[in-house]
Amino acid sequence: MSLAGKSFVTIDDFSNGEILGIFALADEMAADMSAQYGLCRGKIMASLFFEPSTRTRLSFEAAMHRLGGSVITASEVGASSFAKGESIADTARIVGSYADIIVIRHPWEGAAKVVADYAGVPVINAGDGGHQHPTQTLLDLYTIIKERQTIRGLKIALWGDLKYGRTTHSLIFALARFGADILFCPSPGLEVPEHIIDKLVTEYGGEVERVGTSPEARKSPFPVDAIYTTPNSPHQLAMMPDVSAQVELSKGVDALYVTRPQKERFSAAEKSEDIKAKYPVVDKKLLQDRAFRRTIVMHPLPRVDELAYELDADERSMYFKQAARGVPVRMALLAALLGVKQVQVPDVESPPPVHYPVYRRDITPLCPNPRCVSVQPTETKYLRPEFKIVKTRPITLRCVYCEHGFEPKFVASADWHEHKQETKKYHSAASHWAKDIRPENLIIFESEEQAQALGFKPSHFARGEK
Ligand code: NCD
Repeated sequence: MSLAGKSFVTIDDFSNGEILGIFALADEMAADMSAQYGLCRGKIMASLFFEPSTRTRLSFEAAMHRLGGSVITASEVGASSFAKGESIADTARIVGSYADIIVIRHPWEGAAKVVADYAGVPVINAGDGGHQHPTQTLLDLYTIIKERQTIRGLKIALWGDLKYGRTTHSLIFALARFGADILFCPSPGLEVPEHIIDKLVTEYGGEVERVGTSPEARKSPFPVDAIYTTPNSPHQLAMMPDVSAQVELSKGVDALYVTRPQKERFSAAEKSEDIKAKYPVVDKKLLQDRAFRRTIVMHPLPRVDELAYELDADERSMYFKQAARGVPVRMALLAALLGVKQVQVPDVESPPPVHYPVYRRDITPLCPNPRCVSVQPTETKYLRPEFKIVKTRPITLRCVYCEHGFEPKFVASADWHEHKQETKKYHSAASHWAKDIRPENLIIFESEEQAQALGFKPSHFARGEK
């Protein structure tokens, strides 16, 4: 199969079979790195890194050099036209006319999608704010498969900053798709965002159970806060949440995925809290527990204080190997998207993509996520907010750029009676009536003021009556 011309913006862009096909290609590359030289002769990769990076940028650039291609690069906002107020779309169009493929890292969530929409060449997301980091997920999955031969049926614990850690966000979806169970072990206050849990359960099936509320559970050196079990898991979660956590742990953890606090994305309140003091540390002592006898320890790196150096010599530690695997995996990805290599896609199960109705109107709320690309002043001149209507009871929207979910407050129906001005009414989105508006008729307001300014009057259901 050819993946030529495709972009890789979120982990959803490839099926499980396509991911395994890329891994087979990575194996081929790793087996003889020097034999790949020349595959991408004459091709140019633009590497645009507007956030700090060592591994991702250098492994992409090393990958392209090993394939015999060329690299052009921009890495400082201050030294690029972003400093002059250029939009992402304009930058994408220009760079797309210079290069055959673009790799972008940007602090705004959804920025890579905008680049992919405008560049006209394949685009790879190398991390967009706290949203996703799908190529890191490829090498994470590749490492798990290399060390454990499978992903299905494994128990993987995610540790640390699960709120802002983009590597965990793409990994969560991939693990669920490949049939792993997940133990969530966040640092207090840095739990997985609700919209990610919602997507996990509604699109990949299975169930998430909250645990860790009892004082004993909180004192545990291994603070599990939620457990995700795949639909194909043979066991049922126990009735007592804390008991479930203990039962799951006693069966052993296959991989422990540690992350650092993503301080650069903390809110002012989070910065002033003593998150550092509460942040759990993985060290020799923790790994002495029976549950970790065979656990592989992973980390996307860089580490700060959450992963003790004393573990580097431990044979369970996998993080340096994991990073090294970034080169053959990224070589395979570049070769596939540039169309110089075909991908052999095995016939494996992959949950089909879920298609939702889309909300795109002139009357629209803005995405409430301040880090979303769609609300930045340079981008609102041409980007229209767009949302998937992921639920109608209650009405729930998901931004197509940053994937944040939210429940709007005020709505109307476009098929108001006889189209008369006096029957233009708005309703509380929580009212029973609002839930029956068909998606194609739904009008969603940013606020009650916006509804009134547009000539809509409050209905009996505008104040939240059911
Ligand atoms: C990660 C990132 O940038 O999100 N680093 C990486 O790409 N290996 C993780 C991190 O910065 O903590």
